[in-house]
This record gives sequence, structure tokens and C-alpha cells, in this order.
Amino acid sequence: MSARPRSGKASLAERLERLRAAIRHHDHRYHVLDDPEVSDAEFDALVRELRALEEEHPELRTRDSPTQRVGGAPQERFAKVRHPAPMLSLANAFRADEVRAWHERVLRLLPTGTNLAWVVEPKIDGLTVVLQYASGVFSLGATRGNGEVGEEVTANLRTVRSLPLSIPVAEDGPPAPESLVVRGEVFVTRDDFQRFNEDQAARGERTYANPRNFAAGSLRQLDSSISAGRPLRLWAYQVIAAEGLDPASQWEALGALRALGFPVTPASRRFEDLEEMIAHCEAFATARLELPYDTDGLVVKIDRLDLQRRLGAVGSAPRWAIAFKFPSSEAVTRVERISVNVGRTGVLMPFAELEPAPIGGVIIRNATLHNEDYVRERDIRIGDRVVVKRAGEVIPQILRSLPELRTGEEQVFEMPKTCPACGEPARRADDEAATYCVNSACPAQLVRSVEYFVSRGAMDIDGFGIQQAGLFVQLGLLHDVADIFFLTAEQLEGVEGFKEKRIQNLMRAIEAAKHRPVARVLTALGIRGVGGVVGELLVDGFGSIDAIAAADVETLDAVEGIGPTLAQSVADWFASPHNRAILEKLRKGGVRLAEEAAPAGAEGPTPLEGKTFVITGTLPSFSREQAAERIKRAGGKVTGSVSAKTSFVVAGESPGGKLEKAEKLGVAVIDEAELLRMIGE
Ligand code: IVH
Repeated sequence: MSARPRSGKASLAERLERLRAAIRHHDHRYHVLDDPEVSDAEFDALVRELRALEEEHPELRTRDSPTQRVGGAPQERFAKVRHPAPMLSLANAFRADEVRAWHERVLRLLPTGTNLAWVVEPKIDGLTVVLQYASGVFSLGATRGNGEVGEEVTANLRTVRSLPLSIPVAEDGPPAPESLVVRGEVFVTRDDFQRFNEDQAARGERTYANPRNFAAGSLRQLDSSISAGRPLRLWAYQVIAAEGLDPASQWEALGALRALGFPVTPASRRFEDLEEMIAHCEAFATARLELPYDTDGLVVKIDRLDLQRRLGAVGSAPRWAIAFKFPSSEAVTRVERISVNVGRTGVLMPFAELEPAPIGGVIIRNATLHNEDYVRERDIRIGDRVVVKRAGEVIPQILRSLPELRTGEEQVFEMPKTCPACGEPARRADDEAATYCVNSACPAQLVRSVEYFVSRGAMDIDGFGIQQAGLFVQLGLLHDVADIFFLTAEQLEGVEGFKEKRIQNLMRAIEAAKHRPVARVLTALGIRGVGGVVGELLVDGFGSIDAIAAADVETLDAVEGIGPTLAQSVADWFASPHNRAILEKLRKGGVRLAEEAAPAGAEGPTPLEGKTFVITGTLPSFSREQAAERIKRAGGKVTGSVSAKTSFVVAGESPGGKLEKAEKLGVAVIDEAELLRMIGE
């Protein structure tokens, strides 16, 4: 982009096209390769420039311009589209033997001596979409529907940032086929799902039951500006039809899609040996927990497309592929008791104590019941048989009771009239489902507040959890969360389980917590509705906790992303003299309450400046998030995938494919200890 623009329309059009190509390129680096080359600010500057030029010269605006992801009026309903080829479903295999049996059946249908290879891909738990491109431009997108006819959701799909609006994305990429039909899966990551739900709950708006429902709800919005605000992602996995692109195998097809700029999951593998392929399937039962999105198994596909065509389908399922699924995440068990926990806000939370039941390799003993209404609406009684579901990392849920299996001995649950922890009265507000303990000095609440305060997403104090919280409250060492910063080594001497080393570590961890970003401190206070995202919005808006405390409801409400309910909740919290006292105590304890306008160099040493890191496997003492935070603090960058640009791969236990890739590319591999040395810790 160094050439000076010539004057006149032709050169302006050229400049626009160059800007678009640059934005497309950076979008691809960021959203598809997870490996950005420029800062957000640089990227935004390019988009701003393009937008401004397009506004001045609307005649030069193109439909596939990166500025055109959102637009158009909300629709009344979705148009129906007939799919170019019916969408089949897959036969299932749950055990290795069933895969071997499928293999035998396939062999019988093929000439003797045919050598087979397989491509194994994650079976992403999202929504299938069909994408059509005409002359390289994204022209139509549809949902699966009933497999023959789907709904046209082109406008919503355009908002998916990893979906190329025009191909090839790279200027030196392979030529786009004249026409192309691609299938893929639209999904959201578990983290994005959780973040969204927390924010929605904070605003008193609807939440979704799981990432899949969230993806579906977000894709099926009649107003595409709503979809645009949702963190939808895409993996492309199948070429349905292509004029001018003729892959011989699924593996080649994936490569071709990747080369054109489509997001293709790096978790796909090709095998030439049946048993190796099966071993990979079995290992995936745990490997999949590492993926940031939900999968319900793997899809095993015969690689050669000519063999796929030859094998065809039986009924509604192709013979050339099979889904390798994992044992169901549901089980039927019995509710032995319903007990009640006290949360940090004093809310009484019923939970079911279950007859222990294995689900997906883990024994489940408890399931949350949320509140009184949840129990009543599902008619869950003590002694009932129930269907329990465990999805991903979330707490097990009771989906429904099975009244047809009742013996008559079951008992209806009554919410206690007093707090099970302190015995003070419990009250339910008229317009809420929650019941609260009215005693603000309830020790159970305090324990929970401390637990939350020290937790990872909040102050992140190592070696401090619910057990320590319970112990210190019981010993009278903590009367509120701020007391943590006044704990002394002397107080802990002689406390059971606290030897010198452990006391030292805890003291050091508490000291470190004093320097957490202000948004973390704000989050840690446990104000209703203020999670990580809202915490950051508020601190970005006001700069300090004091400024937030001084703001009135209207001022708070004026912050982008903060609604009236949330604003009220924040104002209420700071209006309480008890809470104000905690704030003062935190200040006295040395906790950072304001963002310093950092003068140059005040940020501390940045020994990792200019270095890019990828973290893989389980590190001995840090979580990956903690390691990433330390790297960033030292000026380094952390990305999700290994490339030639990666400076170091930090590898822990069971590192997986990233290590192999690093070795292949000659990227230096270090361990946690080496990383700490580099940072100077
Ligand atoms: S190939 C004949 N590959 O699973 C169907 N499907 O039961 C061939 N799915 O809704 C499908 N990930 O959209 C294929 N990597 C993947 C997939 C995948 C998820 C979905 C698919 C369909 C269902 C098939």
C-alpha cells in the first residue's frame, strides 16, 4: 500500500479494493486463523477509512465489502429454500466394534483390494448451514430445516465474521470456482455462551439453556443486527458442488476450503490405518473436553470422493460415513434429598442430592434446582426418579421427573421459612423467584462472598478457596472480604494445615491480589449483575471505583451496555454504609481502586515485548489463563495456534497437536519454569 494514489475514479476504486483486501486479510488472520498480525486499533483505522470513503462514494460500495456485514431492514419471516442436495443424517457407532463392523460392510461393497483412508472430524454441536457462492461472492445461506427445505438466513450469516463474503480471501489464493456450495456448522464457544448468559441475566433478559440453543436462537433472528451482536462462529466441512474445483478426496476438499479462506477445524485428521483411526476416536472422548466448543462425537468419512459416490446412501444415511458418538450425557437416577445452600447474596438455592449415577465417566451426586419455581414447574419431588443431564463443564441439571415411576412415597419440597445457615427468617420478594436470607451478617453468605472474591475470575488468590473461606470465617479472622488484606502470618500460625511454607505462599498471593486490574476488584465485590464484562464496561467508563460509587443511576445507565436494572443494582450497592465501609477498608489494605493513567514505562518491565506464545497441555502450577495473563503482563502476546510467527510454545503435560506442529516448524518449545525465568519470576 505504498504506491501513491493517482487522481481520478479508477485509482480511487483501486484504493478501495486494496483497503477491502487488507481488511479481509486481517479478518481472516483474526477470526479464522486466530493469529492476528495487527492491533485492534490498526484494524479499526482501516475499517474507518474504508467506511468514510464508501460514504463519500456510495457508487463504489460493493455487496461483498467488509463494511457490509450488517444491513437491511428486519425481515417479516424467513424465505424457504430447497437445498441443492438433500441433507442426510448419519448412522451412529458407540463402540470400536461398531466402527469395525461398518468397515466390513463397506469393504464388501467395494472391489477387493481397495485401499481405504479416512478423514475424522469433530462432530460439532451447532447448526448445519449451506452456503452458496456465485463467482466468488457469498450469495445465499440457509439452515438445514427438514433436510430438503431450509430457511434462508443469508443476512444473518453475513454477520458471522469468519464467513468469507468473497473468495478467495487471499489475493494470491487459488481462483474461486464459478459456483460453489459448501456445508458447515455454525456454533458458539462455551466461553462466549457463558459470558453472554451472564450479561443477559445481569440485565434481566432471557438466557439460553446451552450453546447450541444460543447459536440457533442467534442465527434465527429476523433482525440481522441482533445476530451481528452474537459471537457466532463457523467451521466449513463439506464441498457439496463446485464448478471449477474438483477435489479427489475429502482431505483435499478441506485443504481447498482452507486455501479459499474458509474456517476449517484444525482438529481434523486423516488415517490410513483402521486401528489407528479407531484409537483416535476413543482418545477423543477426553480430547474433546479441551476444545472450546461442544461436540457430540466424531464423523468418520471415507476419504476418496469417488468411493463415497460409489457407496451412496441407504435410507437417509450415507454408507461412506459414520458418527462415532460418546455415551449419552444423560442418566436416570433418584432424588434422595433436597437441601438448600446459601449463596453470597443470601439467596437460598435448593439442590438435589442424588443417588450417585455415572454420566459420561463422572459420578454425579448433586444437581442444582435453582429456586422454588424451578422445582414446582418440573414437579420434582423427594424420592422421584429424574432425568439428569451433564453438559460440558456446567453443573448437572435435572431435566424432568418421571412421575410414572412414582410409588406414592414421594414428598413435595417446601422451601424453608428460615435460613438453614443462621436460622434467621427467609423471604421471597413478590416479583422474584428467589428466596433470600434477610440476615446481612449470615456467616454462610460471608463464606460465599469470600469464596467468590478470591475466585479465578475475580481477585484470583492462589491457595484460597471455599475451605479456607469457611475456616477463616469460623475462626473469626474474616468479618468481610476486605479483612483478607489484613490477615497476618501470625494469625495463621498454629491453624491446622498451615505450615510455614503454606502461610508464606498465601501471604504472597494476597499481596499480589492488591495489584489486580480495577475491573477485577469491582467484579469481586459481588454486586448483583456485575460480572467480568460489566465490570470492564464500568471501569472503562469511569476509570475508578470511587467514580462509580459517586455516580447516580442516570449516569450509570448512560454507559453503553448498562441498562436501568443494572445501574440501579450498582447504585444500591454503593448506597449501603456497610458496603462503603468495605470499600474504605480495601483502600486501607492497599488494594488498587483506580486505573493509573500509566506514564510511559510505569507498566513495569516488558521482557517479552514482541514475542508471541502458544500455551498447550496442563502446566504444573498455572492454569492456561494464568500463564497467558503473566505473558501479557510481561509484554508478550498469546495466540491459539502455532505458526511460523510463534516465538515459543509453552508445553505442559499431554500437550497434543500444537507441540507436533511446533516441532515441524522449528518453533522453540519451553516449559513453565523456563517461562518464569524469562519473565524474571
Ligand atoms: S458430514 C450425510 N461433518 O451432524 C451427512 N456433519 O448427523 C454428512 N455435523 O446435522 C455430514 N459436524 O451438520 C459432517 N464435521 C462434520 C459435522 C457434521 C457436525 C452435523 C451435520 C448434521 C449431523 C449429521
